[in-house]
Amino acid sequence: MCGIIGYVGARDAVQVLLNGLRRLEYRGYDSAGICISSAEKLHIARSVGKVSALESGPVLKKLYGTVGIAHTRWATHGEPTQENAHPHADCKGEFAIVHNGIIENYAELKQMLIEKGHVFRSETDSEVVAHLIEEFYDGSFEKAVRNAVSLVAGAFGIVAAHRGENKLIAVRKSSPIVIGIGNNEMFVASDPAAIVEYTRKVVYLGDGELAVITPLGYTVKKMSGEKVNKHVDNISFSLSHIEKKGFKHFMLKEIFEQPESVGNVMRGRLKGSEIKLSINVDTRAVRRVILVACGTSWHAALIGKQYIEKYAKIPCEADYASEFRYRDLPLSKDDLVVAISQSGETADTLGAALKAKSHGAKTIGIINVVGSAISREVDGGIYLHAGPEVGVASTKAFTSQVVALFLLALYIRLQNGGLVPEDAISELKQLPAKIDSILDNAGQIQRIASEIKSASSILYLGRGINYPVALEGALKLKEVSYIHAEGYPAGEMKHGPIALVEEGFPVVFIATKDSNYEKVLANISEIRARKGRVIVVADVPGVALEGMADFIIEVPRTIPDLSPILNVIPLQMLAYYTADLKGLDVDKPRNLAKSVTVE
Ligand code: M6R
Repeated sequence: MCGIIGYVGARDAVQVLLNGLRRLEYRGYDSAGICISSAEKLHIARSVGKVSALESGPVLKKLYGTVGIAHTRWATHGEPTQENAHPHADCKGEFAIVHNGIIENYAELKQMLIEKGHVFRSETDSEVVAHLIEEFYDGSFEKAVRNAVSLVAGAFGIVAAHRGENKLIAVRKSSPIVIGIGNNEMFVASDPAAIVEYTRKVVYLGDGELAVITPLGYTVKKMSGEKVNKHVDNISFSLSHIEKKGFKHFMLKEIFEQPESVGNVMRGRLKGSEIKLSINVDTRAVRRVILVACGTSWHAALIGKQYIEKYAKIPCEADYASEFRYRDLPLSKDDLVVAISQSGETADTLGAALKAKSHGAKTIGIINVVGSAISREVDGGIYLHAGPEVGVASTKAFTSQVVALFLLALYIRLQNGGLVPEDAISELKQLPAKIDSILDNAGQIQRIASEIKSASSILYLGRGINYPVALEGALKLKEVSYIHAEGYPAGEMKHGPIALVEEGFPVVFIATKDSNYEKVLANISEIRARKGRVIVVADVPGVALEGMADFIIEVPRTIPDLSPILNVIPLQMLAYYTADLKGLDVDKPRNLAKSVTVE
């Protein structure tokens, strides 16, 4: 949610900042802006829409300098207008800031500043920071920023520039900030993807830390002013991981990366019939597991709940993080709360993990982004190692999350003296090759996409472990193609959604040959009888389905518990190809952002 980048060094800062913005654009694309600081003035260029609009604007062409900050916005306070685009400056144009997060007390601060004579030009919460810095400035830029942010409540990653100073100041509370270390040049950003082109040596700011960044280095301090020695990390991915590598969109590339990403989440964790996880938590004393997540990650949690109950034999709940954090649920040290998040930044999932921690529960994360906010707060966890996921619609993270949850359930089972079922490990190992064979079926899925692209609504139905797959298939389609889609438990269809079905109404079924299979066949017949258009994802497309479906997408067989990992792949592809056929911007669907760092 909002991307920020800053640069100090000897290069043309405009080019460095624009390159960074392009890589950050998946975090928000309502507007973009850049500020170059010189001895004379702060030069600010902003425009509504994508980075390309900023780039082609007349002002940018005339800009040159070696220190600057930039921002790509996902609007929270105020519409996506030029006035509301970042960077925001103070009254005199001496200070400029870019901000990621939410300033909860901005209304009071704004009122206070207006009473002191400050003039505001935007409707954003962020602009107060620039005016607060102006208010506190008495010759020390650092002191002014420190005093300004001490008044701010909420979540923020802020980078500030001051006219005439070859220096940037960054502050972090909840929203991520990473400093990139170069040779006589330094970078700062909300996400390492923005700077990996220039350096892989990075320092992650901790909560409540402030960094003074000059071309020659950085100093990190606590808000009290006490210096902090920071560990220098290496970005684990390279530029090629965040490029499209010949694919038309990141979403398609990431769908096709799943044989590898599913292999990566297992790597080093399967040893004979043992599951090796360094989760840093003793699960033997756990009496209840609560999985918290949002969106696609919550769908993975719904599958994980069934794994934990079946294999670990522990009661398990899967809750929306946004609901869990405000629920009066008694929690204790006997509870294990698992925060599932691709980005590791989702505000509600972070809030849920912090709540669990403060109530004494054990916490672990199932996270993709190494070093992210959630991964720092939890007691331990499982990294997905899926590589950067750039497409706003989550695909490869989902299949890796499901595998990680399966491993976690087996791990707890082993810790409690149980055995891993014989076929589980061998079936896990076969998943990458089976996913590969589904990807070979792109032609058929494209044909189906061309049949459904004009639909106004589609129903996705599944049962048991594949009910969350129906939810995920529907979410994927609506996110990228803007076709209304609803996932439902197939058995519930008769209690309402069947009213939607008329001749030609598309219904997607997940029909895996498990204990629910016959019941799903009966549900298909019911749709057929009403002349609905039936698309079935099936692992045994035999006689039972013949004549019952308009389209049958065949997937390889595995044990039913792992079938969601295979069944979801054609649904991701169906969503992608439908959106692409409609000519939509698949990687940047309207109104969405990759990391939702606001509640
Ligand atoms: O980074 P997270 O896994 O915490 O993100 C959670 C959701 O915001 C995310 O899954 C969202 O629903 C995606 N756009 C789904 O494709």
